[in-house]
Amino acid sequence: MTTQQTCSDDCGVTATFPPRHWNQTQSETTHQRLQENPEEWSRYHTLYTESRKNWAIIPYQEMIRWCQQRSGYTIGDFGCGEAKLAEAVSDRHTVYSFDHVAVNTDVIACDIAHVPLDDERLDVAIFCLSLMGANFTDYLREANRTLKLDGQLHIIEATSTFSDRAQFQTDLEALGFVVVSVQDVWKFTHIRALKTERRPQTTVKLQF
Ligand SMILES: C[S@@+](CC[C@H](N)C(=O)[O-])C[C@H]1O[C@@H](n2cnc3c(N)ncnc32)[C@H](O)[C@@H]1O
Repeated sequence: MTTQQTCSDDCGVTATFPPRHWNQTQSETTHQRLQENPEEWSRYHTLYTESRKNWAIIPYQEMIRWCQQRSGYTIGDFGCGEAKLAEAVSDRHTVYSFDHVAVNTDVIACDIAHVPLDDERLDVAIFCLSLMGANFTDYLREANRTLKLDGQLHIIEATSTFSDRAQFQTDLEALGFVVVSVQDVWKFTHIRALKTERRPQTTVKLQF
């Protein structure tokens, strides 16, 4: 466990995201709205960038560090935001960056419930603070579809987001993953899992 406390409140970890209306809305609806109004996305990212200044740990930097110790992977960054991961590790990995709005020409603008990748393309699927949307289970199903067998799933979310981490883990396993570790990293929870041979159950719906 890593614990580096630098402020007494939650440093804006829960205040800034997920935006409540994004979280409570089907991603298809949010995607259409943000495509028509990318300024809403930019405004959100201005707030998110500001809020990160108070954080002792920045989740995408944790993932960059992890990627920098490895090479040769095909990685999906689901909900990449400013695509910092691709910027930092594209010299050693092939990175597909997906978000509602493309911050640069390397990012694929799409709803991460449906990414334009063939089955079993990815070695690693990363969700760094991006499980927004009432249907976020669909994002994890998409990770399962696009990951190779034994491929690696990383989820980092604010710990305060989870109402029941054990249940979340159980439900993730019903989606065809095996959870390898659940780690507290400052005010975040980092879940690592592997894709197994088990087919995802069709009825399971994960909850925060
Ligand atoms: C808090 S930001 C995190 C960005 C980046 N992963 C990071 O760690 O800095 C969450 C991002 O996920 C994206 N996102 C959430 N749900 C999405 C969806 N269904 N389709 C595409 N992008 C999505 C949002 O647009 C936003 O850019």
